[in-house]
Order: sequence, then C-alpha cells, then structure tokens
Amino acid sequence: MNSEQLLTRAFELDSTDDLSHWRDRFVIDDPDLSYLDGNSLGMLPRTTVHRLHEVMNEEWGSGLIRSWRKWLELPLIVGNELAPLLGADDGEVVVHDSTSVNLHQLLHAAVRLRPDRSFIAVDAHEFPTDRYAVESVAAQHGLTVVSPGPNERLDGIDLGDCAVVVRSLIDYRSAEVADLFGFTSRARDAGALVIWDLSHAVGAIELDLHAAQVDLAIGCTYKFLNGGPGAPAFSYVRSNLIEEVDQPIRGWFGQDDQFAMDGAWSPKPGIGRLMIGTPSILALEAARCGIELCAEAGMPSIAAKGRALTDFAHACCDELNLESISPRDASNRGAHIAVRHPHAKDVVERLERECSVIADYRDPDLVRLGCSALTTRFGDVARAVNQLAGIAHDRV
Ligand SMILES: Cc1ncc(COP(=O)(O)O)c(C=O)c1O
Repeated sequence: MNSEQLLTRAFELDSTDDLSHWRDRFVIDDPDLSYLDGNSLGMLPRTTVHRLHEVMNEEWGSGLIRSWRKWLELPLIVGNELAPLLGADDGEVVVHDSTSVNLHQLLHAAVRLRPDRSFIAVDAHEFPTDRYAVESVAAQHGLTVVSPGPNERLDGIDLGDCAVVVRSLIDYRSAEVADLFGFTSRARDAGALVIWDLSHAVGAIELDLHAAQVDLAIGCTYKFLNGGPGAPAFSYVRSNLIEEVDQPIRGWFGQDDQFAMDGAWSPKPGIGRLMIGTPSILALEAARCGIELCAEAGMPSIAAKGRALTDFAHACCDELNLESISPRDASNRGAHIAVRHPHAKDVVERLERECSVIADYRDPDLVRLGCSALTTRFGDVARAVNQLAGIAHDRV
C-alpha cells in the first residue's frame, strides 16, 4: 500500500471504531494535530475542566476549610476507584505523591520485609527513576544492586538471595510486556518480592494483579489515565501484606489518629498508612476524572483498540520501510511502538514543526508513537507514520 492507500484504510478503520466517539470527551484545540504522545502526557478530559471549576468554586471557594471533611479520605476513595483497573480490591490502592516517592517508600518497606537478603535487582536499562531508587535504597541498607548483563534478562537471574526486584511491566522504550504471572511466581518461589512499575501499563492494557498474586506495585496516572501533568501516582499493596508494611516515610496523613497531635507513630490500618503529607486535592480530582473515563469505557475495549492501533502502526511501518523495535505480537506489546532512526530527536522536532504531528524520542535512536485508545485516531497513526517516513528517508 502507498501513503494514500494507508490513509484510506485508516479512515475506514476510524469509521467502524466503536471507541471513536470518546475523543469528543476530550479538549481538542486543533483537530488537525496528530497527538501521539499520550504515553507521556494523556490529553485533557472535558470533565476535568468542569470538575476542577466545581471543586475550586464550591469546595475550596465556598466550603473553605470545611471541605477537608471530605478531602481527607480522597486518596483512598480515588484508590478504590482505580483498583478495578488494576485487578485489585478495595483497600489495596492509594493515590498519592509521585511514582518516584512511592517507589522509594515501597522499596524501603520491601527490604525490611526481607532482612536476610543481600541484593536488590533491577534491569540495567530500566527507567532512570527506578534505577536511582534501587541504588539509593540499596546503599542505605548495605545491600548490593544486581543488574543483568547486556545480553541477559531479569528472567534469567538467580533470585535466591534477592530481597526485592523492581521491574516495569511495560518497557518504556520498546513497549515489550514482561511476564507478570511467570516472573511474580518465580520470585515468590525464591522468597523475593517484586515491585512492579505499572506506569506504561495502567489504562493501556488489562491488568489482573490478584490473579498474578502481585504483592507490590506503583505507577503514574498522567499517561494513559489522562490524569494531568504531575497528577498523583498510586501505590498498591496486596491486602494480606499491608499490615506487615513498615511505613518508612512517616507523615501525619499516615497516622492512625491524625488529629490527636501527640503520642508515638501508630500507622493507619490498611493502605492509608502509605499516605505521607497533605494531598494535592485539585490534582487528585483531575486524576479521578481520567480514571473515571477509563472505567466507563472499559479496559477490555481500551486494550483491544490499543492493540489494533499499534498493529496498524506496524503495518504502516512495514509498507513504508521503517523499522520498529516493538514486539510484533500485540499481546506482548503495550500501547506505543518505537521506530528506530539514527536522528530520532531531529525527526521528532521536524514532525512537530513541519507536520503537526507530536511524537517523542528516546535516546539514542528511538521515535515513540503513543496510541491512546480514547483519543488516537487510526488517521493520526497513518498520517504520523507517513510523515515520519518522508522525513526519515529524507535524512538517510
Ligand atoms: C516507567 C516509569 N517509572 C517512573 C517514572 C517516574 O514518575 P514520576 O515522575 O511521576 O515520579 C516514569 C515517568 O515517566 C516512568 O515512565
């Protein structure tokens, strides 16, 4: 197929797409813009604009301090709303702070749960925050860091003396999906804990943390959940472990009797013990709106469209001689694809400047095309890959 035929095929796919009307639920400032970066920052839902006005005017403006009566529990309420998207239960998820902070918190807690072990494992190519957190927590506890060599995988390492592994479920570069069930089970058999980073998975693929017997997870809400820039992240702890978690970053929001204001630290029962300080209520309400949209559209439909969009992106790349490093098997892939090009940064800049296409790049040579089921059109994918091919072949 040539470029014209790919565009025609894309319009056919858009016209039969059951989720196409969801795009109307988002703020679209420029209908001609092809936005393929929802894997970094999801688009703004219309309900968020309305809800934030409401919260500002009614709850903050009129309610003033009285609104804290309802705000105090908001991280737990939003956590319960997010839980079904993770395959978790009420009381296992709290929405708070940032992914980086939450990872530090759960890493300390996990190491304390495995005091006799000697190392923490993390992939050498893992997202930077995750590697930094592992290095920092390992140093504080006198542990070593084990990272598999360039040709090895975490799947191959001996976990016999491992306290905890930090691992992304979906690789932020290639979009490859790790084996959640198999790896969690192998770690458990070896007595190690795993903290799964779900940042690129939540809101993109179907998750069943319970079925996989996942103990600990963290992730962000500003990518495929459309929670907004800097939206609070989440922590998940399996219910049978939560009372054992020793909260290492103590603050008054994690304290059982928060307003007693005296006495020793006594953590809240349940997942609330992970809360630290005053939550950002406006950001939480924005995250909540994005979570509600995903819940309403349903993860099976969202995940299916993500697979269809990325399948189509691969078909376009094949036709136009572009090399994607993302898995060909859609069940093994998240909701973006990564196209290799030696001048990825320049290509992405030209796409935005000259073609009204927003994508992103990751050093040294990857152009990422994010396919957000609720907002990305097949037409956006065809247009982006066409323009990308034009620029890419121009440069070579
Ligand atoms: C896989 C992964 N982990 C962690 C982070 C860091 O998240 P935060 O900046 O919210 O702490 C990101 C940010 O994009 C990410 O992609």
